[in-house]
Amino acid sequence: MSIKPATSTPAWNGMSAEEIEAQLDPSRMPRHVGIIMDGNGRWARRQGFMERIRGHEAGIDSVREITRACGELGLQALSLYAFSKENWSRPQREIDALMALLERFLYNEVDELNSNNVRLTACGAIQDLPAGCQKALAHTMQATAGNTGMILNLALSYGGRYEIVEAVRKIAREIAVGALKPDEIDEDTLSRNMYRPELGDPDLIIRTSDEFRVSNFMIWQSAYSEFHITPVLWPEFRKIHLLAALLDYQRRDRRFGGV
Ligand code: IPE
Ligand code: IPE
Ligand code: MG
Repeated sequence: MSIKPATSTPAWNGMSAEEIEAQLDPSRMPRHVGIIMDGNGRWARRQGFMERIRGHEAGIDSVREITRACGELGLQALSLYAFSKENWSRPQREIDALMALLERFLYNEVDELNSNNVRLTACGAIQDLPAGCQKALAHTMQATAGNTGMILNLALSYGGRYEIVEAVRKIAREIAVGALKPDEIDEDTLSRNMYRPELGDPDLIIRTSDEFRVSNFMIWQSAYSEFHITPVLWPEFRKIHLLAALLDYQRRDRRFGGV
């Protein structure tokens, strides 16, 4: 008699990217994937770098590879949690370096996004970003607006609770002008008033670096998301890890409260 291991074997156990991909069912891909890109600081430390920012810089390669792979796999939207509202509490030096990196990324990535037919959007308290970042964001959103493939949605100065607060404010204003009655508010009203309702709720949320928490990411939209947590640190997250997450997702039984 064999004893079942306490934890299930990872989906990618011993498999190559090609082998995992062959097992994926293209008709059951998630439409919208969210990624909590975590572990950049730990990666930098493990590499022996003095500066955490070296980890953020290395993470850009992961962003590029994963965006491209998600587009090729036919996902409709990829939301990347790049900077939280809570991240403003980090040392100013790290914030400045992150914002400079973001600005550079936005300008540098236009050709790559266009050649992959990817459209850029963003969600969060964008007005809190430095003017240079806001300008770069507007530039890249405009330069990719005509693309018809996947949407890459960057969560910047993003907080899930604050998003709900802002949605409630918008709804309250509608009530104040008589466009809506309190009893007409339903779940759909809330969903419609989130930052990017057109993306739909994320079907799958991936978090790197083995942290088992949501850290205020899409708390309204993730009510029925599947979670995939991997020990891989974000700067080392590659297409094979994405494929493994997708296979893990396809092995789940999404019941939505049914039987
Ligand atoms: C994620 O990596 C990137 C951001 C939150 C901006 P961290 O910077 O949180 O890396 P760790 O968690 O300290 O390793
Ligand atoms: C979550 O990572 C935010 C982003 C990935 C942008 P953090 O590293 O900020 O989260 P905590 O502090 O571990 O919860
Ligand atoms: Mg972290």
